[in-house]
Amino acid sequence: MTQVIRTSAELREKVATWKRSGMLVGVVPTMGALHDGHLSLVREARKQSDRVIVTIFVNPMQFNNKDDLEKYPRDEDHDLALLEAEGVDVLFAPGVHEVYPDGFATVVAVSGVSEPLEGAFRPGHFEGVATVVMKLFGMTQAGRAFFGEKDWQQVQVVKRMVEDLNVPIRIIPCPTIREEDGLAMSSRNVRLSPEHRALAPRLHAEMQAAAAAIRAGAPVTATLEAAKAAIGAAGFGAWDYLDLRSAEGLRPITELSEPARILAAVHLGDVRLIDNIAV
Ligand code: PAF
Repeated sequence: MTQVIRTSAELREKVATWKRSGMLVGVVPTMGALHDGHLSLVREARKQSDRVIVTIFVNPMQFNNKDDLEKYPRDEDHDLALLEAEGVDVLFAPGVHEVYPDGFATVVAVSGVSEPLEGAFRPGHFEGVATVVMKLFGMTQAGRAFFGEKDWQQVQVVKRMVEDLNVPIRIIPCPTIREEDGLAMSSRNVRLSPEHRALAPRLHAEMQAAAAAIRAGAPVTATLEAAKAAIGAAGFGAWDYLDLRSAEGLRPITELSEPARILAAVHLGDVRLIDNIAV
């Protein structure tokens, strides 16, 4: 039975009893609308921890677009049923006031790795992410936290923050889970029209083709430009970015001299798809 907890005071008590028995606590931070990608994180958390907390909090601070916040899918009853089936111990689902009470005045800003890509197109996004993740780590007192590589840059930002602020938690990145046709699972995918849903996997297909070409020695800039043009011609909307970056620091690179990733963000209808793959 998954216990639903809404206040940090109650959560603290629960976690304290676990810790007194020497248990390792794992946390999976989410914004709900759970899909198989989240559940794969939960399964990994269950393997690597004695007790698992899943947090569901649609964090207003990380949405730079009011419309996106309002339209963000929410279905706590369905999420809870999924978590029960996975044997999750606690669903921590605080309200906005619990996380940001009156007088809240602190922002965690990670410079460098948070600045390009998502940081450039979604001003304030990573401050919102870093601040809430730091709070969730404090509230849950977990020893391990599980994040999906679908949000590759988010993982790098959280890792940087944890190292810089000596937060006693281990970050475990877990592979992106894809639909059979290659589309990366995302809570926002339910907002794609049937036509756009059919088109969406083309992004991953073109990214894979570009990665293969770059690995085989094709010039980086021309290859990415060709991929952008092909995806545009297929019917996608505006590009935010399609870049080759160093995997850890996310520096722009034009040669494969270190582990690298292609990262992309492109609009399709009123949904913004993001994806990334190793090269
Ligand atoms: O990846 C997400 O769902 C969110 O950015 C997170 C990590 C739960 C913080 O709100």
